Amino acid sequence: MTRILAISDPGTLADALAVLRRGQPVAVPTETVYGLAADATDPAAITSIYETKGRPRFNPLIAHVADIDMAKLHVQFSPLAEQLAEAFWPGPLTLVLPLSETSQIHPLATAGLGTAAIRMPQGFARELIAGFGKPLAAPSANRSGRVSPTTAQHVADDLDGRIELILDGGRCRVGVESTILAVNGSQLQLLRPGGIPVEMIEAATGKSVDRPAPPAGDAAVIAPGMLASHYAPDARVRLNVSEIMPGEALIKFGALPVEGEDQAKAVMDLSPTGDLREAAANLFGMLKQADASAPRGIAVAAVPEHGLGEAINDRLKRAAAPRPPV
Ligand code: TXA
Ligand code: MG
Repeated sequence: MTRILAISDPGTLADALAVLRRGQPVAVPTETVYGLAADATDPAAITSIYETKGRPRFNPLIAHVADIDMAKLHVQFSPLAEQLAEAFWPGPLTLVLPLSETSQIHPLATAGLGTAAIRMPQGFARELIAGFGKPLAAPSANRSGRVSPTTAQHVADDLDGRIELILDGGRCRVGVESTILAVNGSQLQLLRPGGIPVEMIEAATGKSVDRPAPPAGDAAVIAPGMLASHYAPDARVRLNVSEIMPGEALIKFGALPVEGEDQAKAVMDLSPTGDLREAAANLFGMLKQADASAPRGIAVAAVPEHGLGEAINDRLKRAAAPRPPV
């Protein structure tokens, strides 16, 4: 059975390290979402992440590090990459950088690419990695294709009985996954919008960030997490609604009234004051809450596209995308 331990309990760190040292994954809170973490250098441990999530193996994992020295053992930093790490680590920014020759990150975690996605998380996750002494590979701690977890209970809802240990650190502060940025020489490419808005990256570096066009059809995937249908609740999702159909669950933004909301199965507001940070922190929890009301569909009001709105709208578009046949 799955144990849930509070990160504030003495002994939790040692228990978690013991599970990791046996090559098993542990669910751990980060500032973005809960991750399913395991030894990034151990093929069996990485395999158990893929199996637990039901994740396609061509979709590589982020290696999480405790400090910049640990990162430099595994990837090569250009001056621009170094500047980004200094500005935003620890924090919700993942850098895709060339692997170093000495890297111990296993090819199963990088899907055999010549690069690795690397990030330094905040809080308990970082302490755990420091204690472990090696990078931890960690995708979000949900079954593949489902909404990412922002509480320990969300993890349990998806993975209870499939993992040994969930570490409970309360609600994730940011609520959407890290921004993924490829650094190629002096070029910056946005592979996934996330917890650090593009505007902040541009302000810190003085460079503009390119947004590569999404690959058409089955073309090679740049960041495979960019699979169209992802973050899918059970109910169908409609976006940018100004009126709802009876029996739908409604997710509003900024306290703006929506026609027909009195007929809704459930009504939530991502942020009544229109604060995008609050909206990001509420997003996945409210999608799950809407789903739990067993609605005929989930209707979501428009969310502005600037700042964290880009990441919020990205996740909403994936939640609303046509589903592959099961
Ligand atoms: O906030 C986060 O990033 C969370 C927490 C747990 O840290 N993790 C997370 O991991 O979102 P995951 O596995 O759900 O997303 C990792 C993304 C995938 O879209 C994957 O394709 C991309 O990173 N990725 C990993 N390695 C890559 C590489 N070498 N090149 C391009 N994309 C890569
Ligand atoms: Mg994920």
